[in-house]
Formats: sequence, C-alpha cells, structure tokens
Amino acid sequence: MMKKPSLYIAHLSLMVLLVLPALAAGQALKAIQLPAPQMDGGRPLMQVLKDRKSSREFSPEKLPAQVLSNMLWAAFGVNRPGSTGRTAPSASNSQEMDVYVAAADGLYVYDAKAYALKPVLAEDIRALTGRQAFAKDAPVNLIYVADLSKATRAAPADRDFYAAAHTGFISQNVYLYCASEGLATVVRASFDRAALAKAMGLRPDQKITLVQTVGYPKK
Ligand SMILES: Cc1cc2nc3c(=O)[nH]c(=O)nc-3n(C[C@H](O)[C@H](O)[C@H](O)COP(=O)(O)O)c2cc1C
Repeated sequence: MMKKPSLYIAHLSLMVLLVLPALAAGQALKAIQLPAPQMDGGRPLMQVLKDRKSSREFSPEKLPAQVLSNMLWAAFGVNRPGSTGRTAPSASNSQEMDVYVAAADGLYVYDAKAYALKPVLAEDIRALTGRQAFAKDAPVNLIYVADLSKATRAAPADRDFYAAAHTGFISQNVYLYCASEGLATVVRASFDRAALAKAMGLRPDQKITLVQTVGYPKK
C-alpha cells in the first residue's frame, strides 16, 4: 500500500533529524597526534621568571603542532620515564586535572601519555571561554577542568581547594613556557562557567577552574 505524501514527509524529516547530527559528529573532529615534546630547550629559569607576565594582545596566528606539544607537556605532561609523574604536583598524586584546548576547529582534551589531542567537540567555543574580546580570536584557550571523580583520596571538603591549587601549578608552568618562548598568555577567571560547561558537555563532577589564553603576541 502507498504511503500518504504527508507520511513520507514525516518519515523523511525524522531521518534527517536522526542522521544529520550523527553525520555532524562523525565528520567532526579527528584526533591529533602531536610530535613528541622537546624537553631540552628553553631559556634559563631565572631569566624566564624575570619575563613572566600576563598579556592581553594576541596575534590570530596558529601555534605550530610542536609548540602546542611542548606547551602542553610543560603544562601537565608526563616527565619521568617509567613513571606516571607529571610536570605539576597533585595531592596524593590524584592527577585529576584535564587540560582542554579550545581552538578554531574545535575542542580537544590533552592526552599526556599519548602526546595527543583527543576530539571533544567540532565547534569553535573560544568566544565562550571569556568575556574579553581577545579570547575568541586567540589561537588557543586552555580550559582547566577538575575531574572530581578522580579526586577520591581527598576529603570532599578539600577537593575544590586542591583543584584550585593544581590549576595554579599547571597555569604557572604555561606562563613560564610562554615567557621562555616569547608567547603571550593570560590566565583568566572571567567567563560564564555554566555556559562553558554546558557547551563542553561536562558532567556535574567535572568542574572548570580557570582558562588560559595562549598565542603569539600581537604585532
Ligand atoms: C585566579 C586569577 C584570575 C584571573 N582572571 C583574569 C581575567 O579574567 N582576565 C584577565 O585579563 N586577567 C586575569 N588574571 C590575570 C591577572 O590580572 C594578572 O595576573 C595580574 O594583573 C598580575 O599581572 P601579571 O600576571 O602580568 O603579573 C587572573 C589571574 C588569576 C591568578
């Protein structure tokens, strides 16, 4: 028996509704294998400390994959061969912080063991990472997220405080890397947490602590 035209249209609309989002997610973002980080470069620590500062003027120029890899390794990379130790400390070695990377092509999360960026969302959410205009144009906004499901050794009352402390260590590592390499950076708390968490699809026990913009200085 022939279906009525209206039934065909309803059927087609349903297919479009079901298939299009799947296609969008599927064609979405691919994982990025970063080059291994270069751990032997950089300027002397005392000179770098002398130059550490916040900058709020960024060039839109992209960061090369090697620079991104080095910066993420400095932030919270695995730094001791044969161990899971990281470049930043964490209470009871909980390592509950995830470093997300919001770039023009989408949102990724850093996989420190694999030196890779794992795809999260094929959307440019940089504008949501800050109320300051530069956030949407800078090539990279790091979003620090505490996965509190991994912070089980800490008393519940301590977990937010520890996450804030861990973020400070990671963020300062990024500041020092940027000072060493002539990059511009600023860590930021001024953003709409609820809107950003929603866009990122975070669970309730994943808490955004701070964000940090990184790029080349504006010429
Ligand atoms: C927790 C925290 C939140 C901050 N939030 C912002 C922010 O939302 N926007 C901004 O432009 N700078 C922000 N900053 C950067 C400070 O303004 C900056 O570190 C301070 O002015 C000192 O400047 P310096 O980093 O160059 O020494 C923040 C810094 C910290 C530690």
